[in-house]
Amino acid sequence: MTIITHARPNIAFIKYWGNRNEELRLPVADSLSMTLSNPSVTIEAEASDTMIIRSIEMNGEEKNLSDAQKKRFVDQFVLAKEYLRTLGAEDTLPSAVSLIVRSEIPSGIGLASSAAVFAATAKAYAEMIKQSIALTKAQESVIARLGSGSAARSIFSGFASFVARGDGIGDAWAEQIADENHWQLHDIVIAPEVEHKKVGSTEGHALASTSPHWSERVRQMPRRQKECIDAILQKDFEKLQHVTEEDCMDMHNVMMTSTPSLQYLNKETYRIVKEIENLRSAEHLEVLYTMDAGPTVHVICTEDALEKIREYAARQQGCTVFEAKIGAGADLVE
Ligand code: PMV
Repeated sequence: MTIITHARPNIAFIKYWGNRNEELRLPVADSLSMTLSNPSVTIEAEASDTMIIRSIEMNGEEKNLSDAQKKRFVDQFVLAKEYLRTLGAEDTLPSAVSLIVRSEIPSGIGLASSAAVFAATAKAYAEMIKQSIALTKAQESVIARLGSGSAARSIFSGFASFVARGDGIGDAWAEQIADENHWQLHDIVIAPEVEHKKVGSTEGHALASTSPHWSERVRQMPRRQKECIDAILQKDFEKLQHVTEEDCMDMHNVMMTSTPSLQYLNKETYRIVKEIENLRSAEHLEVLYTMDAGPTVHVICTEDALEKIREYAARQQGCTVFEAKIGAGADLVE
């Protein structure tokens, strides 16, 4: 039987950067994000004799996956089995699976697909074993995390907090702070350049602790996480803006000062950030910026600011612009 699931990326207000265990993707600190309404990634999964991972592009053509890319799916599957054993549900998953990944995420918009991909595979695995064990969303989130830390958050709709708890395989998962109807926020994604990331986040996490700013970041994270949760629950945009921009710049400071140094932002990123700051003060707009491991600026705004931000984004020559709003969690495709 083929199971079809889909999930979407998320954008973090409080960033996940640094693991206490790289293999298990156990984060050092908590993080918080908003799941986006689009683009989505669909997974078709079925039991198989050997692991088969295929990726089909939007135009229907098959994309060549590297061995490292395939290994990431295999690793998540093997770790998922190990985790299920801790729940007393060993051998509920088949010995291997065949996966077909279809991503709607356009290349060059600087939106990583891994959060959506591994949330969708986790949902598919949960569906495969549901006659034997009904996993909770927290347990699905653990399995998503085993493929990509940030995928733990894409299991949920709306706003989700990814909580670091302990050192065991099941000791970190996300939980929902508020659903997608709580606050209509929009993400206008402005991607200044089409270039492949030099160092991916999986390798990047391992460098975080080499930065001299790392221990101070870790010290500040619980305060920021709390402020961010309060801001969301109170729909206090100004508070959300302050803490999000502070945390984003702090993460990039850690990245830039790690050994080797990771420089994800470029001149265009800084120009857009400055212009958003100017626009915000000149027009009193509820708008904030944040960047993940790349130069792409996520310009997040309220419904009231949307038109003005759309106009600004449309004027960005040479940039790819993409728009999403707050969205749904990982789910079965009916
Ligand atoms: O899930 P990963 O390992 O790709 O890490 C995501 C890291 C950031 O996007 C930079 C921050 C975040 O919280 O999403």
